Amino acid sequence: MGDGFLLPDRPVDSLDAWLALGGGDGIRAAQRLGPEGTVDELRASGLRGRGGGGFPTGAKWAGVAAGRGTHRYVVANAAEGEAGTFKDRRLLRDNPYQLIEGLAIAAFAIGARDAFIGLKASFAVEIERLTKALADMTDAGLAGDVSIQLVPGPEEYLLGEEKALLEVIEGKDPLPRLLPPYLHGLFSTAPQMGWISAPHEPGHRGPHESNPTLVNNAETLSNVPWILARGPQWFRTLGTPSSPGTIVATVVGDVAHPVVTEVEMGTHLSALLRGPAGGPLPGRAWKAVFSGVANPVVDPSRFDLPMTYEAFTAHGTGLGAARFIVYDDTACMVEVARVFSQFLAVESCGQCPPCKLGSGEITERLERIERGTGADDDITRIGSWLGQVTDGARCYLATEEREVVSSILRCYPEEFAEHLETGRCPRPREIVLPKIVELEDGRVIYDESQARKRPDWTYAPA
Ligand SMILES: Cc1cc2nc3c(=O)[nH]c(=O)nc-3n(C[C@H](O)[C@H](O)[C@H](O)COP(=O)(O)O)c2cc1C
Ligand code: SF4
Repeated sequence: MGDGFLLPDRPVDSLDAWLALGGGDGIRAAQRLGPEGTVDELRASGLRGRGGGGFPTGAKWAGVAAGRGTHRYVVANAAEGEAGTFKDRRLLRDNPYQLIEGLAIAAFAIGARDAFIGLKASFAVEIERLTKALADMTDAGLAGDVSIQLVPGPEEYLLGEEKALLEVIEGKDPLPRLLPPYLHGLFSTAPQMGWISAPHEPGHRGPHESNPTLVNNAETLSNVPWILARGPQWFRTLGTPSSPGTIVATVVGDVAHPVVTEVEMGTHLSALLRGPAGGPLPGRAWKAVFSGVANPVVDPSRFDLPMTYEAFTAHGTGLGAARFIVYDDTACMVEVARVFSQFLAVESCGQCPPCKLGSGEITERLERIERGTGADDDITRIGSWLGQVTDGARCYLATEEREVVSSILRCYPEEFAEHLETGRCPRPREIVLPKIVELEDGRVIYDESQARKRPDWTYAPA
């Protein structure tokens, strides 16, 4: 537990420190293998995307490499806007060099001419470390033949949604496009069902181009130099056949020691919660774990699940990006549902009316129930919106609302009944949306301004 290769014992803060760990071996191996050989190595490794979906990385690279267009692009997604996660920022702080090398290898493998790293403008420490690492790697000739640019973006949760991230890289707001990046990539000149296309770039040949673009999470790309340097078989000695490697997990909430740690995939959730996260607070018992606000709740009967994509899916939930938000028996699950739903309702961009309207109304009705002024009709209306909230959705945010709220209703019906019957909350306690701004040495700081954020993305005065 806690031992792996992505999170070093002490921060890798110079090129020499990275070279001492084998830095440069990955890109040299890729250059020896050639683009197709590099994609084959990724496929053989079984690496799956660490951004939440677990999509096979080699297959994604092969798809983009085979796509048509004058240019291809690669994007590292370091936006990390989901609640309960700090792992990408930990990786960027502790070893930005591995991400730069992974990005350069990805660009080489798919034939990209430009690469971008998308992250929040508020990630000041990470931007500083990445900027230094990029300069060091470029000077040493280890950043490949690709231009790599940092793109500081806005605070919105949707920044990390891949179709919205491309918009931001093009200088627009984080509103998800219709088509996925491998079909409609950066600076595409093809109109997208009414979407305004970009002007033709130099070298453009045909009337329209889709510029297939590869988007990978920062942790996914950080694995790449190690896989190329040490080989896919080495990578497969870690984890399980369907979920090889390690995963960098975050644990916050009602635990003794909030933590970011690297664990071998297949490690049992309970071992993570009781080991590095220090177990429950004294005298308390856990009752719920959420993998971010994107997946159905994990109740105590499933705390012993192995952390693999296949095990979490088989138990009706998702591993996501291994960000675990833990609640104990003092927490009100109606309030948890309200806080999560409010986050999603506020962050929804409103391009798909059922998502914005549905999540907004679900939040209002949850608030009424939590205050003790709810009625059976509120449950009925919440149920009916949960059936429609994803209608016509351009992105997965609406599905997150459906999955997380309906799972809480399903798993804790007695808590909703208690509120409706007694007209009060039996477990009054503040629940804060765990959007992390700092996590160090067991101390976590959440973004207090999130509670003041309004559905039009402005903020109420403090
Ligand atoms: C609302 C929303 C927010 C997301 N935020 C992030 C994020 O901050 N970082 C990230 O890597 N992926 C995020 N994703 C997933 C990305 O869209 C995309 O699937 C991922 O970057 C792909 O990388 P991977 O294949 O390496 O996992 C988000 C998805 C949604 C729907
Ligand atoms: S599903 Fe929701 S968040 Fe996603 S594009 Fe539509 S309105 Fe925006």
